[in-house]
This record gives sequence, structure tokens and C-alpha cells, in this order.
Amino acid sequence: MHTGTRFGILVVGLVASCALTAEPASRWYSEEQVAAGRVLYQEHCAGCHGPNAEGTADWKKPRPDGKYPPPPLNGTAHAWHHRMSVLKRTIDRGGVPLGGWMPGFQGKFTEAEKEALIAFIQSHWPDEVYAAWVERGGLK
Ligand code: HEC
Repeated sequence: MHTGTRFGILVVGLVASCALTAEPASRWYSEEQVAAGRVLYQEHCAGCHGPNAEGTADWKKPRPDGKYPPPPLNGTAHAWHHRMSVLKRTIDRGGVPLGGWMPGFQGKFTEAEKEALIAFIQSHWPDEVYAAWVERGGLK
């Protein structure tokens, strides 16, 4: 192949890949919130959802008692389908009202602490997942 042609293809390729990589949506939370959330999360949530929000490997398979294991919160399961207010409500009420068994933490956390917990969880979400959450109205 002629060197000039090869260079042309390289340039076209670079331009195309830049156009495809859109600016990642900037996050609503700060590093301080993630750090505060990490401490709360490790104490109250990691035992079930895993230290890195990875959940249980077999989270889609019901256990012998018919209940589902704790899902990942790292963006690979459903947590990103829930807007902010619903995530906060899940922390308060747990999973029982929805037929699950996660304990509720009503009265345990301040609004700021719930936001920090969500910030920590979302710090594990890839940019595409975060952008999809915002697109669905996640910030409401
Ligand atoms: C005793 C185990 C347990 C603890 C502790 C726990 N969870 Fe859960 N969590 C679950 C289970 C199980 C589910 C799935 C729904 C159900 O069965 O209640 C769930 C669901 C969720 C969901 C919804 C996920 C989705 O895909 O829709 C969120 C968000 C969540 N938990 C956050 C937290 C946070 C934040 C904490 C700590 C403050 C926490 N959980 C502590 C077991 C737990």
C-alpha cells in the first residue's frame, strides 16, 4: 500500500474514533462524597453487596429459600434503572415492600449520608451506564 494512503486511513480512523467517544457526562458528586460513602458502605452494605459493589456472582439465580442473592450495584445489574429518589427510598425501606428481603435503614442515615452512599456506588459505574442513568431522569 502507498504510504500516503495508509496515512490517510490512519487520520480518518482517528477522527472517527474521536467523534464516537463523546465527552463523558460529568458526575453530580464530589470525591469527598465518594470517600464518605465508601466508609458507610463498607460498614453497612459490603457484607451483602460486596466491597466493590460487585454483588453475588449468581445473583440471578434464586436461593433454595426462593429469595434472590444481593445484586451488584456496580452498574452491571439494575440499580441504574432507579432514579435518585428511588435509590434513596430503597436504602430507607429495603427490599421487603418489593417482595425482596434487603433490610431497610430508615432513620439510620441523613440525606447527605444516603447521597454519599449513592455517590460511592455510582463511582463504580462506567461512563455509558452513568450517562444512561442521567438520560432516564436519574437525577430526579
Ligand atoms: C442483608 C443483605 C443486604 C444489605 C446489608 C444491604 N442490601 Fe441492598 N439489597 C439486598 C438484596 C437481596 C437486594 C435485592 C432486592 C431484595 O431482595 O430486597 C438489594 C437491593 C439493593 C438495591 C437495588 C438494586 C437493584 O438492582 O434494583 C440497592 C440500590 C441497594 N440494595 C443498596 C444497598 C445499600 C446502599 C446498602 C447499605 C446501606 C444495602 N443495600 C445493604 C441485600 C442487602
